[in-house]
Amino acid sequence: MSKTVLLTGLTGNVGRYLVGSLAGADLKLRALVRSAAAAESLTGQGIEAFIGDLDDPSTLAPAFEGAETLWLVTQLGPRAPENSMNAVWAARQAGVGHVVRLSAIGAAHDAPTRNGRLHALSDAEVAASGMNWTILRPHFFMQNLLASVDSVAGQGAMYMNMGEGGLGMIDARDIADAAAAVLADPSKHAGTVYTLTGPSSVTLSGAAAAISAAIGKPVKYIPVPSEAARGAMVGAGLTAWVADALIEYGEAYASGWGDFTTADLSKIGRREPRSIEQFAADFAPAFRGA
Ligand SMILES: NC(=O)c1ccc[n+]([C@@H]2O[C@H](COP(=O)([O-])OP(=O)(O)OC[C@H]3O[C@@H](n4cnc5c(N)ncnc54)[C@H](OP(=O)(O)O)[C@@H]3O)[C@@H](O)[C@H]2O)c1
Repeated sequence: MSKTVLLTGLTGNVGRYLVGSLAGADLKLRALVRSAAAAESLTGQGIEAFIGDLDDPSTLAPAFEGAETLWLVTQLGPRAPENSMNAVWAARQAGVGHVVRLSAIGAAHDAPTRNGRLHALSDAEVAASGMNWTILRPHFFMQNLLASVDSVAGQGAMYMNMGEGGLGMIDARDIADAAAAVLADPSKHAGTVYTLTGPSSVTLSGAAAAISAAIGKPVKYIPVPSEAARGAMVGAGLTAWVADALIEYGEAYASGWGDFTTADLSKIGRREPRSIEQFAADFAPAFRGA
């Protein structure tokens, strides 16, 4: 009989590709979402959808009841470990057998970013939960570059505080494919941490060059000081906490902290990771301002 998998974060960067990546898997898909609109859209795709909020444990039991596997995504923010804890507790109560958790590269108690240190707490909690687990720690998502579509389309420029550090950035579609492969056969990946990267380490100047080639117009990366980047992020509506967390990543990347790739993706799926050129070509309409 098909196993029931409870999926969280389906409206996010990775989640929006996950249902497609799971097409054909012998699984019964179930979703936990926060809005009626998201629930309706998923129901329309034949997915059983429950409305619940990882901020509020009292809303979770119905979605977890009868699920055998959990795909656990938490949003960047100070409540991420609490959200993860609420999901892990609901999973334990419901008898879920395996948790597949979306973490982040370099998650560790001494990581240079608060997000990495918070993920370390949640990774440790999942590992000590008594359930089987698999942890995916992806690198910087190529899709983060879509935050610059307006400045690329309008000024041919991307502004960030990442210096000229290389990043083994990964396309979120590859993370979804990897998650789908693990969810389809979780026991094969039990007790494993995968650090997922793209095929090569790319500087922001390199990413700008790929976008420039894809859209047929000059695009430059302009490194900016952390304070300027922080001001722009807060001005664009990010909370101070999230802006500070992203600034920490920028500074770590500028120092070369993200200048690596791994072969972990190939251990999970068959696909070669998408390159920055492929990403830029696929998202060219967005970078053109379409
Ligand atoms: N971006 C990167 O470069 C990067 C790199 C490595 C790791 N990560 C990790 O990736 C994770 C985020 O994944 P993502 O980018 O795919 O997601 P995302 O785009 O940040 O979206 C967050 C998802 O979580 C849902 N959500 C937020 N708060 C919730 C709550 N209280 N209860 C239930 N659902 C909630 C959102 O649903 P709504 O539609 O209801 O808002 C949305 O589906 C973070 O843990 C981050 O550290 C990111």
